[in-house]
Amino acid sequence: MTDRIELVQGDITRLAVDAIVNAANNSLLGGGGVDGAIHRAAGPDLLAECRTLGCCDTGDAKITGGYRLPAGKVIHTVGPVWHGGNHREDDLLASCYRRCFAVAVENGIKSIAFPSISTGAYGFPIERAARIAVAEARKAPAAIDRIVFVTFGAGDRGVYEKVLAE
Ligand code: APR
Repeated sequence: MTDRIELVQGDITRLAVDAIVNAANNSLLGGGGVDGAIHRAAGPDLLAECRTLGCCDTGDAKITGGYRLPAGKVIHTVGPVWHGGNHREDDLLASCYRRCFAVAVENGIKSIAFPSISTGAYGFPIERAARIAVAEARKAPAAIDRIVFVTFGAGDRGVYEKVLAE
């Protein structure tokens, strides 16, 4: 079976996959980083729909339309803020990936792209986060045909390449 996991470097808002994942905050009302980029690219209708969703728990995921994005849907997930590793950060990050896959399957999504959740403003160490992301992707439901990890910084790409090669 050809590996369904891909690694690309660039701007996730430009990917024409069934769904891109947003590294959101609990309010789902936008922010900086990839959250800001996705809202800018999707346009104001995304925020309008997010307002109807209420909040999203850390480790959970909720789905919206993609609006002006090339992706059909956005799956918003809220990663843990890094507090040193003894506050269930690993479990909560793994939950983000598992919940995104579950929401994808519930919505008939076959291709999904992820940014490096929690590794920017939330400070989660990139290699530790990449190991969690790759481990969850390798266990993703068979209904998902294509899983794309999108790295934004050059350094991150090298980390994912190393973890994927293990
Ligand atoms: N495409 C792909 N990846 C991106 C993009 C982009 N356009 N912009 C940023 N990234 C990468 C960052 O380089 C980082 O590797 O997304 C990863 C996650 O970083 P953040 O966006 O800072 O997300 P996170 O660390 O999960 O913090 C979430 O930041 O933007 C706020 O509202 C958001 O409060 C929430 C917090």
